[in-house]
Amino acid sequence: MYLKGIDSHLRVLLRLKMCIFLLAVTTAGIFLALLKSSELTEWIQNNLQNTCQCVKCFSKEDEFLNRYLNRSIEPFLSANADLSEEEFKWWSHLQSNSHNFSYFKATIKTLFKIIPPTPVFEKPQTEGCRTCAVVGNSINLKGSHYGPLIDFQDVIIRINYGRVKGYEQDVGARTTHRVMYPESGSTLDNTTHLVLFAFKIRDLEWLIKSLQTGISGKQVKPRANKNLVMVLNPAFMKYVHQSWLESKGKYPSTGFMTLMAAIHFCDEVHVFGFGADSSGSWSHYWEKMKGKNFKTGPHPGKQEYTIIHKLAAEKTIYFYNGV
Ligand code: C5P
Repeated sequence: MYLKGIDSHLRVLLRLKMCIFLLAVTTAGIFLALLKSSELTEWIQNNLQNTCQCVKCFSKEDEFLNRYLNRSIEPFLSANADLSEEEFKWWSHLQSNSHNFSYFKATIKTLFKIIPPTPVFEKPQTEGCRTCAVVGNSINLKGSHYGPLIDFQDVIIRINYGRVKGYEQDVGARTTHRVMYPESGSTLDNTTHLVLFAFKIRDLEWLIKSLQTGISGKQVKPRANKNLVMVLNPAFMKYVHQSWLESKGKYPSTGFMTLMAAIHFCDEVHVFGFGADSSGSWSHYWEKMKGKNFKTGPHPGKQEYTIIHKLAAEKTIYFYNGV
């Protein structure tokens, strides 16, 4: 009688456990079904990968940032990146592109036989707090004495021809990443990352040829450490243009896309060298403006500057006005 009582108790307990288990499995199933794979990636990135340990990290309080930020879009291409045909079409209209999507995919495949399958990021000096300096080429850096502050960051990203030699006091001496495209290509030392901003398939081919043979037609042939090469994701360019800039201008400037990429892969972003001169032109700190009518070219300079200021006003980024 007594044993029978225990037996029925155990059976009830077993059923209860079974119910809890089934409930957990069903809940997980519903949860996964509700989140499509891209949304799941976004959810994981937003909630589980927030490992930032800086004094101030990107958070829910960065209201302006969160209105536009989409962490599911990778800033850099990787070997298994799945660019959609629609994203390719958007990208291929930026500059003259005569090749189709399959040709693009084949080119990417060849490229990733040479460069690492996923972009390489060195560990920051302080675990969990990668600090970055994005150095634009504005004339406002001249006489700024920002050099030591720039050099203090873990990652120092310079763009195109941004000079260093002779300008160390104002722009620092270290460069960890150099953004370029064929028209602004240069040779790098063995420790600097070449960050290619490709606007057409020919730009990717230029990189492949340069890394393979060091020869690339008439254009400057960059020599760089193959293991440190990274390529901006065309889908990321589209996202920056359509989400952040609401499709204003032809496409975002190199500097603005660099800043956006930094927001995606850095924990703390310090911004230097952004801002037009008194005539509204993007003049450089090392030279006199050549084409006075260039202004900000095909890029929505004013829009970009407004966004940068909003991010700075909310203390999402550290912005340095210069002189
Ligand atoms: O002139 P360049 O394109 O090499 O400059 C790199 C970036 O720096 C630009 O794409 C732009 O975003 C930024 N810039 C700026 N103000 C300037 C010069 C450049 O904001 N006066």
